Amino acid sequence: MPDIACVNGRFGPLAQAVVSVEDRGFQFGDGVYEVIRTYRGRPFQTDAHLARLERSLHALQLPSPHPRTQWATLIEEGLRLSGFPETKIYMQVTRGQAPRDHPFPTGASPTVVLTFRELRPPDEAIRHTGVPAVTVEDVRWGRCDIKSLNLLGNVLARQQAKEAGAFEAILVRDGVVTEGSVSNVMVVRDGALYTAPEGPRILSGVTRTLMIELASKEGIPVHETFVVKNDLYSASEVLLTGTTVEVVSVVRVDGRTIGSGAPGPVSKRLARRWVELIA
Ligand code: PDD
Repeated sequence: MPDIACVNGRFGPLAQAVVSVEDRGFQFGDGVYEVIRTYRGRPFQTDAHLARLERSLHALQLPSPHPRTQWATLIEEGLRLSGFPETKIYMQVTRGQAPRDHPFPTGASPTVVLTFRELRPPDEAIRHTGVPAVTVEDVRWGRCDIKSLNLLGNVLARQQAKEAGAFEAILVRDGVVTEGSVSNVMVVRDGALYTAPEGPRILSGVTRTLMIELASKEGIPVHETFVVKNDLYSASEVLLTGTTVEVVSVVRVDGRTIGSGAPGPVSKRLARRWVELIA
């Protein structure tokens, strides 16, 4: 079962895939990406991911290199060649290769890369125990709604979490909770779910949208509004959502116990509904 890459339409072993050192993704982070996962071998929420990819491309004034049907064909082909039980599909589009100069180059064509690697989900035990998180100052740029390659703020925050023995870094900007370094954050207070509103301060997750729909169906009130750092500490429950984390409970933030210190009833209900949804 090989790791597969597709570079500008050409499939081959990931280890042999190359792009130019003058690619603007490498030089400037001038590009966007998506991460899609499979469930039972089928890509999950492809349309929602492709729609967000199109929004990100539009924000960078990059035309979409492929119509959705062609993206879907490339994904199918990569899955067929790699053949893993479950796959993490990474898709990246950059402004292409050009001599290093900040303004958009004329005549460059985008570099389109897809990679297909085996997906190893997080340890099942964390579903029962929950995970610790730490808060980290959100120093990212002002357009976090674009899924751009500029992830240095996320990288530094996640490293800080790792060094603190935490599962995730919860980002705080101007006192308010924005999101995680690779996930969206939800807080339960008085039986209602609070999560940061869509806008430039967060990446609106595909999983976030689905979780809001599930919560609404369950009769759980949802408020898309910012909470402050102290609301995290006093929350009855804190959850993380994302393609790779799915839904996971946070039971400690900055060493303080959240709620009972175990996944709470709202998290458990949503996790159950999530399992039904993906089935
Ligand atoms: N990241 N917020 C940030 C900053 C993220 O990087 C991600 C996902 C999410 C959740 O989005 P979604 O539910 O659509 O996966 C929120 C991916 C998985 C990554 O960078 O690896």
